[in-house]
Amino acid sequence: MAVLTITPLKPAIGAEIAGIDLSQPVDGDTREQLSHALAEHLALVFRGQSLTPGQYLAAARAFGPTMRQHYSQHHMEGHPDIGMVWHRNGQRPAERWHTDHTNHERPPLATILYGVEIPSAGGATSVANMRAAYAALPEAEQRHLDAMRTINTLDEQRLDTREDDRAKYGKPVIHPMVRTHPVHGTKAVFFHIQKVACIDGMTPEDSKAYMADLIDRMIRPEITYTHQWTKGDVLVIDDRATMHRAHGDYDRRESRVLWRVLVEGDRPALIQS
Ligand code: SIN
Repeated sequence: MAVLTITPLKPAIGAEIAGIDLSQPVDGDTREQLSHALAEHLALVFRGQSLTPGQYLAAARAFGPTMRQHYSQHHMEGHPDIGMVWHRNGQRPAERWHTDHTNHERPPLATILYGVEIPSAGGATSVANMRAAYAALPEAEQRHLDAMRTINTLDEQRLDTREDDRAKYGKPVIHPMVRTHPVHGTKAVFFHIQKVACIDGMTPEDSKAYMADLIDRMIRPEITYTHQWTKGDVLVIDDRATMHRAHGDYDRRESRVLWRVLVEGDRPALIQS
């Protein structure tokens, strides 16, 4: 069993994990520790890793089976469960707060990113604790959100979606706006604004305006962790209770390449206590 050192990065979110080489097999006890650390800290950082695509996938599976990502043009050749998050020649990264693949019936448990090419300055990834965001809302608004459901589809604004991906992943899926974490038992606000066609019973315009306002009010610096990338870092994000965003503040003539793996999750549910 690996002897892990778990050092919190901020009081509300993030921990650095030392004492593990992710290129080596991860045993059952270590998997258990990592799963609990993820549920507790929501963003785990492993530094100085050196991984082949096969080793990266094996390490990701310490958190559960990997799942196929829906924009197939970004799949790594020969390793389709790895998505290439790369921004070259001025392309923009995903700068709005979101959580991944919410148009799936079983959205991911975790997003795992591996730093492959890192710009000389900027290009961080921020993660927000949406459990703390929910807890800080007035009780009346918590009850209001508890009753809401979102209708989720593929992002209609994206023009690069392939027809076969749209046919496979474009069917509307309903999720609760607030979900209970299956390991931690706490509630968190859960949506991806660009994938919500509407909140059940509201117009698309009112839904987007409400969610944009919620994000502005809920996500404060105290509940976020910003990861400044170094090549070889692995960042594991618990998608059941966070949102994340990329920072596009780097020189766009430089490359920013991350490998992304998604770990299968369960169907989001709100369990009223
Ligand atoms: C993502 O949104 O999954 C990737 C985040 C990033 O590019 O930092």
